[in-house]
Amino acid sequence: MKMRILLVGNGAREHAIAEAICTQDVDLYAYMSRKNPGISRLCKDYALGDILDASAVSKWAGEHAIDLAIVGPEAPLEAGVVDALEKREIQVSSPNKSAARLETDKAFTRGLMERYKIPGLPKFSVLETEAEVDEFVSGMDMEVAVKPAGLTGGKGVKIMREHLKNKEEVREYAKEIIRKGVGTINKVVMEERLVGEEFTLQAFVSPEEIVGMPMVQDHKRAYEGDRGPNTGGMGSYSNRGYILPFLKKADYEFAIDIMRKTVRALYKDTGDAYKGVLYGQFIATADGIKVIEFNARFGDPEAMNVLSIFEGNFVEVMETMINGGLKSADFHFIDQATVCKYLVPSGYPINPEKGAEIIVDEAAVKQVGARLHYASVSEEGGKIFTTSSRAISLTGVAPTIEKAEEIAESAIPYVKGPLEHRRDIGTQELVEKRIRHMKELRNPS
Ligand code: AMP
Ligand code: GLY
Repeated sequence: MKMRILLVGNGAREHAIAEAICTQDVDLYAYMSRKNPGISRLCKDYALGDILDASAVSKWAGEHAIDLAIVGPEAPLEAGVVDALEKREIQVSSPNKSAARLETDKAFTRGLMERYKIPGLPKFSVLETEAEVDEFVSGMDMEVAVKPAGLTGGKGVKIMREHLKNKEEVREYAKEIIRKGVGTINKVVMEERLVGEEFTLQAFVSPEEIVGMPMVQDHKRAYEGDRGPNTGGMGSYSNRGYILPFLKKADYEFAIDIMRKTVRALYKDTGDAYKGVLYGQFIATADGIKVIEFNARFGDPEAMNVLSIFEGNFVEVMETMINGGLKSADFHFIDQATVCKYLVPSGYPINPEKGAEIIVDEAAVKQVGARLHYASVSEEGGKIFTTSSRAISLTGVAPTIEKAEEIAESAIPYVKGPLEHRRDIGTQELVEKRIRHMKELRNPS
């Protein structure tokens, strides 16, 4: 009998994970909150329901005799979906609820890094009451980033100068987080405002090993030139040879070492052995590499970059993240650059045009050599419509970032509808701007 694998989630990241799983001779099952047309056609069976309902997900998995599972997004990790599956003796290549605190509780993770003297820790304070906010703000002598400690879907962080004009706005926002509970925990993490170039490093992690993937740079801002509101990510690129063009091999080694130390500290501190993909978001500053945050899963869009060049047995990687042997698993990343661009509904993220029809010519996209992944769309009667979130991603793979960008861009006309995207992601001009910025930071004249 074929192995039965469950995927939880329904975004473009999960579509890319589904494709990686389906390169093997297995049966894929999916539990989705909305039908993803790309995932559903790869599945033997799927269910539509609340992916945060741990008992419903695990019951369905039990009924379908699932052998192995993976959870795409963060919210089901926090909701205990992994723990519920494991109670039914289903193996899961994602961290349990407690280990996922590396993402779901920023106050916990900053505290862990401090206690175990892990490098890359920015100056920070955790505030739990409005009185603590008042005290902190009156003695504040630096510009800060104000972060809800719990999950907010990537949209809760506000930075001084960018979103908050002065101390008073910092005070108000911090109090709002505590009072109203922005995110899932009523605590605020105040951090020094860091200036530099951000990058993502994802790794496969088993209780004993950590194996890094190529670095990626995501683009959070909605509009070209890194302007406008923050989004879940508008697109991303990676370079040949694992290292982004504005960074060095030593930066990669430093970042992966931080991830290794953090996973070890987690085990020492809590007894939780981390398993699954770990995502480190870093910023290279004039003062070295700092940790922005960790995520307990693949990034979205970063999953499309790395999985588009993943070659080998993804199911074996899933198994070895649980049982060990990761370093000898049969896989590698092909030596190519990648550029991923998201198509989003017009007006996204402030006033997105929902319910508009999208016409996708998948054959033409394939012909120009791009990969298409469905994100948040709805499907009715064979037609596809926008929702309020990112709709479709297009990824190009080529020997250079510039060429990969051209491939992604050349596929855009084959997805028709009231959609927008950032043309600048992965262009030579943008990459050169990053290189110049990093040079200025590291060698100030
Ligand atoms: P996070 O939800 O922690 O990933 O933060 C969202 C975004 O806020 C990040 O991608 C950064 O661009 C920005 N950010 C987070 N922390 C800081 C910081 N300490 N200084 C400057 N920007 C930050
Ligand atoms: N690309 C950001 C994230 O996945 O959280």
